[in-house]
Amino acid sequence: MSPSSLLLPPFLILSLLSLASAASILSFSSSESPWGPNNGTHLISTNRTFTAGFRKGNSKPDSFFFGVWFTNSRDQFVVWSIFRDTPFDSSTQFSVSSRGELSLTNTSSSQALWTVSGSNSSQLILKDSGELQFDKWSSFNFPIDTILANQTIPNNGTTLQKGEFKFLNASVLAFQDNDTYSNSAKILNLTTDGTLMMSDTSKQVASDVGKTDRLRRLTLDQDGNLRLYSLNATSRTWRVVWQAVQELCTIRGTCGRNAICVPVGSTSTQCVCPPGYKHSTGTDCILKSNYSSSSSKFLQLDFVEFGDSNNNYMQSLSPINFADCKSQCLKNSSCVAFSYMFTGNRDCNLLFSPLKDGYWSPATETATYMRVSESETDTSNFTGMTQMIETVCPVRLSLPIPPKEAKTTARNIAIITILFSLELLAGVLSFWAFLKKYSKYRDMARTFGLEYLPAGGPRRFSYAELKAATSDFSNIVGKGGYGVVYKGQLPDGRAIAVKRLKNISGGEAEFWAEVTIIARMHHLNLVRMWGFCADKEQRMLVYEYVSNGSLDKFLFPAHTNLNDNVTEDETDTNTTLLQPPRPLLDWNTRYRIALGVARAIAYLHEECLEWVLHCDIKPENILLEDDFCPKVSDFGLSKLTNKKDKVTMSKIRGTRGYMAPEWVIHREPITAKADVYSFGMVLLEIVSGRRNYQFQRDSTESEDWYFPKWAFEKVYIERSMEEIVDPRIIEGANDEAVERMVKTAIWCVQDRAELRPSMGKVAKMLEGTVEITEPAKPIIFCMPDEH
Ligand SMILES: *[C@@H]1O[C@H](CO)[C@@H](O)[C@H](O)[C@H]1NC(C)=O
Ligand SMILES: *[C@@H]1O[C@H](CO)[C@@H](O)[C@H](O)[C@H]1NC(C)=O
Ligand SMILES: *[C@@H]1O[C@H](CO)[C@@H](O)[C@H](O)[C@H]1NC(C)=O
Ligand SMILES: *[C@@H]1O[C@H](CO)[C@@H](O)[C@H](O)[C@H]1NC(C)=O
Ligand SMILES: *[C@@H]1O[C@H](CO)[C@@H](O)[C@H](O)[C@H]1NC(C)=O
Ligand SMILES: *[C@@H]1O[C@H](CO)[C@@H](O)[C@H](O)[C@H]1NC(C)=O
Ligand SMILES: *[C@@H]1O[C@H](CO)[C@@H](O)[C@H](O)[C@H]1NC(C)=O
Ligand SMILES: *[C@@H]1O[C@H](CO)[C@@H](O)[C@H](O)[C@H]1NC(C)=O
Ligand SMILES: *[C@@H]1O[C@H](CO)[C@@H](O)[C@H](O)[C@H]1NC(C)=O
Ligand SMILES: *[C@@H]1O[C@H](CO)[C@@H](O)[C@H](O)[C@H]1NC(C)=O
Ligand SMILES: *[C@@H]1O[C@H](CO)[C@@H](O)[C@H](O)[C@H]1NC(C)=O
Ligand SMILES: *[C@@H]1O[C@H](CO)[C@@H](O)[C@H](O)[C@H]1NC(C)=O
Repeated sequence: MSPSSLLLPPFLILSLLSLASAASILSFSSSESPWGPNNGTHLISTNRTFTAGFRKGNSKPDSFFFGVWFTNSRDQFVVWSIFRDTPFDSSTQFSVSSRGELSLTNTSSSQALWTVSGSNSSQLILKDSGELQFDKWSSFNFPIDTILANQTIPNNGTTLQKGEFKFLNASVLAFQDNDTYSNSAKILNLTTDGTLMMSDTSKQVASDVGKTDRLRRLTLDQDGNLRLYSLNATSRTWRVVWQAVQELCTIRGTCGRNAICVPVGSTSTQCVCPPGYKHSTGTDCILKSNYSSSSSKFLQLDFVEFGDSNNNYMQSLSPINFADCKSQCLKNSSCVAFSYMFTGNRDCNLLFSPLKDGYWSPATETATYMRVSESETDTSNFTGMTQMIETVCPVRLSLPIPPKEAKTTARNIAIITILFSLELLAGVLSFWAFLKKYSKYRDMARTFGLEYLPAGGPRRFSYAELKAATSDFSNIVGKGGYGVVYKGQLPDGRAIAVKRLKNISGGEAEFWAEVTIIARMHHLNLVRMWGFCADKEQRMLVYEYVSNGSLDKFLFPAHTNLNDNVTEDETDTNTTLLQPPRPLLDWNTRYRIALGVARAIAYLHEECLEWVLHCDIKPENILLEDDFCPKVSDFGLSKLTNKKDKVTMSKIRGTRGYMAPEWVIHREPITAKADVYSFGMVLLEIVSGRRNYQFQRDSTESEDWYFPKWAFEKVYIERSMEEIVDPRIIEGANDEAVERMVKTAIWCVQDRAELRPSMGKVAKMLEGTVEITEPAKPIIFCMPDEH
């Protein structure tokens, strides 16, 4: 025995020794009766996977309970038990009577503590599945906190419970009896290969799904999370392979009253007090100093939210503006805080004491304003939303400056105004269409476990979920500078594209905050991001799957793949050769695509104050829906990769042929005008149906051939625009639209960045709502040799 065992309390050593020396029986019947803790006998299953017997209780030295455990796990985890919380002493014994009744009896008082009836030949046996059986009685019908493989979850009140958490039935989990989480589907059973079967035929799977050579258990843990554990037979320890709730802070009761739960990494949490509050008992927090209704102020806590609206300490008001929300709280003397959701919803909630289930998460998109005494000197350290809002959409609106009010109020009003303008500008149509379509999913959000769509923010997926959704990352649909893209399907049937990112800088919280910003961008012509995964080193983004693939496949004949002319990092090895022939895009479709892309980029640039530069606009990053509605992908990703050094970033990210000259030659920091240049190139390609750098090989021999210059000459000097137009569709060409597209493109590809129009202007040029004057002639732009 190792020296460390000397440190164990003596009775534990005794119990370890007694476990080691225990005699084993395969069944217990009247002939083995009685059976008590002093026998030192264990009931084992045929192949010894499970053991049943008396175990030491935690409380007193002479206290025992009866349980079933995994023979081989190091912790001998108890999967089923009786009298664990109210242990009995060593005088208590099992016996089977001649009538066939199994009873656990206190021999001192001859009182039967527990009985099961059977027939005269009944015996107690333990099956290899962990099921304890006596005649018709089965321990599987009375689970405690754990479900084993092949065990069906009963739906009649005998479901899992642990501490203050209890499943009311297989789909509703309650905290303290009345605060419930629910799932639309119920969990049916756990299969031996690690799949949780749900009543709506969807599935939840372990990260080691498919392996049947190991033991698993589904346990409701003390913290209220439901987890699936898998036993490593070598190390004999458990590993979490699935958990119902990813954001641990959203589990009820994690922190006490008035406290705020903050995640620490992805596996633990911390409870902190809001500013103006101090710790009291447990994790509860109380106000540092009381306020009177006339002398109170509010402290802003970004990304903090309390409780759930079905609780009586919260009053939801119909959508109102921020100032009204605040004054409603001020008017009500029992209102201790209010929360405001910074999306188009304008959700205002007044909060009453005690505040419960507070947590911080960027996904809330909510700020809570805590009412404190006027003299309070604490400042909020929950910040970041203002910055986020300002960076995402500090639209250059001429805001009426409010009369000299407190500075924060002015700022708040500005934020609100900006937000509402944002929602208006952000393509109200697409946003609301989206909400309407997915309101079903939104309602399901913040349920136990299976929230599929964000309640306001992106949904956090576990690595295991995405592994399962993509069939172990088996279906590659693309590779790009940011990583590999896999096709997958969520359990609710929606198709997704999972982008597994590489070279991502920064920590998890930073990644989360950035991703939340990207997820906020709603535009008809932007690929919608549904969620992300940040598990240990893994960083993945989950997007809607856009069915028709990328524009390049439609524009260019198969052999002109981008592969042969890319920068170091850019390896778009799209499997073009394997693709079936694509239909030829007609003129109207091309025009619609060009306009849609221009609007999406204008949205990124202008409604978001040039915060979101795309930095890699090319046909590969323009995806097409069934109806050829274009959707720009990969926006915002340049932001994730490298903040410090934009020049280096641009060098890595851009794709040759689409990179603006100032960027390639001078290595200047990127501006929005670099995106305009890239778009101009794409526009010329949409018109011509050829890669800008491959056009040359086919049509001219000159060394200093440069697409923009050549196009300019064709349009403005030779006046033979038709030479630019894709010869395959020249028949149906709409002269006016073609001219508009070509002239707009030539403006976009001007050598000097300041001559290029803004993206908003580009969209207007395409629409035909502004006049297109004659641009300057592009000079020759030489592509420098590799490095
Ligand atoms: C327990 O000990 C008693 C008395 O020695 C004996 O009669 C009985 O058979 C034992 N039972 C088992 C299950 O070992
Ligand atoms: C068993 O009976 C004795 C005597 O009546 C009593 O002191 C003891 O608490 C009982 N044990 C249990 C577990 O009920
Ligand atoms: C058990 O009961 C059956 C009938 O219920 C009877 O035929 C049999 O003899 C009994 N066996 C014993 C050992 O008492
Ligand atoms: C014991 O039996 C169970 C159920 O048949 C099986 O899953 C398990 O692998 C077996 N264990 C051993 C060690 O044979
Ligand atoms: C579960 O049931 C399946 C099919 O009935 C069986 O093959 C498997 O051995 C069982 N697993 C356990 C652990 O009992
Ligand atoms: C639940 O159902 C099982 C199987 O149908 C049954 O054995 C058990 O007694 C039931 N439990 C309760 C509390 O009704
Ligand atoms: C688990 O549930 C599925 C779906 O209802 C069913 O097909 C399967 O037989 C069940 N397995 C067990 C062991 O009950
Ligand atoms: C589970 O219990 C809840 C509340 O008691 C009830 O509303 C719901 O219908 C039940 N679900 C199932 C599947 O029984
Ligand atoms: C919910 O349960 C808790 C503790 O059991 C109790 O304090 C509270 O009053 C209950 N709330 C409602 C609305 O029943
Ligand atoms: C099991 O544990 C051993 C030793 O810790 C480890 O080397 C092995 O990778 C683990 N197996 C699995 C499947 O995790
Ligand atoms: C605040 O008011 C409550 C209730 O009136 C009182 O119990 C508490 O002691 C007061 N706290 C302070 C710091 O004055
Ligand atoms: C805010 O400050 C308190 C007290 O200094 C600290 O305990 C807490 O961790 C801080 N919270 C955050 C989110 O930084």
